[in-house]
Amino acid sequence: MYIIPFLFLLVKSGSCGRILCIFPTPFYSHQSFFQPVWRELSLRGHEVTVITTNPLKNVTLTNLKQIDLSFTYKLVYEDHDMQHVINTESNLLKLMKHVFFIMNNMTSEQLQHPQIRELIKDDDNFDVMIVEAHVPAWFGFAKKYNCPVIVATSMDATNHFKRIIGAINNPVYTPHVNLPFGSDLTFLQRMISVIFEVFDEFQTSYLLYPIQQKIIRQALDEPDLNLFEILKNNVSLMFANAIPGFGKVTMNLPSIIRLNGLQIKPPRPLPEGLQHFLDGASEGAIYFSLGSNIKSYLISEEKKSLLLEAFQELPFKVIWKFEEKVSDLPDNVRVVAWAPQQDILRHNNTKLFVTQGGLQSIEEAIRFKVPILGFPFFGDQFHNVMRVKHLKLGSWLDLSTLTKESFKGVVMETINNDTYLRNLEEISDLLEQPLKPLDKAVWWVEYVIRHKGAEHLRSPLVDIPFYQYYLFDVIIFLVLFSVMVAILRVGDIGSED
Ligand SMILES: *[C@@H]1O[C@H](CO)[C@@H](O)[C@H](O)[C@H]1NC(C)=O
Ligand SMILES: *[C@@H]1O[C@H](CO)[C@@H](O)[C@H](O)[C@H]1NC(C)=O
Ligand SMILES: *[C@@H]1O[C@H](CO)[C@@H](O)[C@H](O)[C@H]1NC(C)=O
Ligand SMILES: *[C@@H]1O[C@H](CO)[C@@H](O)[C@H](O)[C@H]1NC(C)=O
Ligand SMILES: *[C@@H]1O[C@H](CO)[C@@H](O)[C@H](O)[C@H]1NC(C)=O
Repeated sequence: MYIIPFLFLLVKSGSCGRILCIFPTPFYSHQSFFQPVWRELSLRGHEVTVITTNPLKNVTLTNLKQIDLSFTYKLVYEDHDMQHVINTESNLLKLMKHVFFIMNNMTSEQLQHPQIRELIKDDDNFDVMIVEAHVPAWFGFAKKYNCPVIVATSMDATNHFKRIIGAINNPVYTPHVNLPFGSDLTFLQRMISVIFEVFDEFQTSYLLYPIQQKIIRQALDEPDLNLFEILKNNVSLMFANAIPGFGKVTMNLPSIIRLNGLQIKPPRPLPEGLQHFLDGASEGAIYFSLGSNIKSYLISEEKKSLLLEAFQELPFKVIWKFEEKVSDLPDNVRVVAWAPQQDILRHNNTKLFVTQGGLQSIEEAIRFKVPILGFPFFGDQFHNVMRVKHLKLGSWLDLSTLTKESFKGVVMETINNDTYLRNLEEISDLLEQPLKPLDKAVWWVEYVIRHKGAEHLRSPLVDIPFYQYYLFDVIIFLVLFSVMVAILRVGDIGSED
């Protein structure tokens, strides 16, 4: 009888905190990766407020307050037609300008959402904020709440963010993720890599941040707010996604916490129709997914019929995740608008995963040992599929030059060559870790709450300008000095004559 109030006291006096999670991007994979974290934090007694485009639909989660920004999907994909822009614009500068334009509009609209307006008006306080890396404006809330920040991304830490928090990279071995470069870079690739990095820094610093800063200054009524200062001074940790054994080894700060596989769910039975379909695939099955955001723009009518013809001539069954109705389907093809991807990959008859190559999909393929046929088209997918090729876990599929015969050829090769399965067997073993990623994430959030930040993990490189880091000043001085000494010596020798 005395135990209950006592337990209650324990919970109250422990490290339970008030946590604000901000996940504003309309990408399902970005959300599904961190959903388990905010759910788990709420179950452990923290008071969690989440700003998200994909709220959890579990009404029993009482410590969880969700602000539903799902309207963003319609805004970005229908009103702004973003997928179309991504798939048709080949000029990178124009593409990024357009993407930034959409991002800025999206941020303005989200900050005007009634529930966000209310949050801004209220005098809440939070012990920590977990903020998605990709939309800078939201970091401005750190000024309002004066609380430590954990940056979160469902991808590996980007070079840009690593620079901000003082984990400076050398593009010689960590080229930008949008570049399709393998492991040993040639001179030309290193040159491109450096130029691309400078270009990336330029466009984020001069095209994105100033406008994002203006938007958040206005929304919070904080005319002096400086996003770069907040990122430099108030970020305690970064949560990133790195699949053990898959990514390149890079220099990592102790404040970059690498998680993986958070999105993996326990097995669930497949819907009856799919189960039956896969069970009957005695020759094997292909799971072909265009991901959650690609929709149909990528697939012209011509490509669609080419793929269907190729599928029909292959001896495998095919599950095609596609949002549109397709008429005249061959018997061995099933089109589904939504698919339980993990459970399909778990099925023993699934022999090939055709995917755009997002990090989560790749981890699922590795975990369930399904060879990969990757067709990257945006962001880190190029880098990921390059790694797939490098580690021989599957093949690269170029959708733009696709023919029926080349498609059939690469499918057959990837399914019949045991190299890929053997490598998957080995690399999937590396996913085992001493601590479950979810527990690791929760542990670190509680750590930041307890210590009111992680000042002692802050990298000294945050305050060291890049020319000092790369020793430019020292090298230039030494070279000039040597040249001067040499000139003087020559002068001396000359005057001795
Ligand atoms: C909702 O969360 C509770 C607590 O973790 C869990 O027991 C329950 O299964 C969840 N329900 C659904 C529908 O996911
Ligand atoms: C954002 O874009 C939508 C659709 O084009 C437009 O209606 C809206 O006015 C824009 N909002 C802002 C704040 O610019
Ligand atoms: C955030 O950084 C500012 C300096 O820019 C500092 O004054 C403030 O105490 C920091 N807040 C937290 C919670 O780290
Ligand atoms: C899949 O194969 C494994 C090993 O061959 C077997 O143990 C397992 O029962 C199979 N699973 C199903 C659902 O058939
Ligand atoms: C199987 O794939 C590996 C890796 O791509 C390649 O080196 C090997 O030649 C392939 N084997 C056959 C029989 O095609």
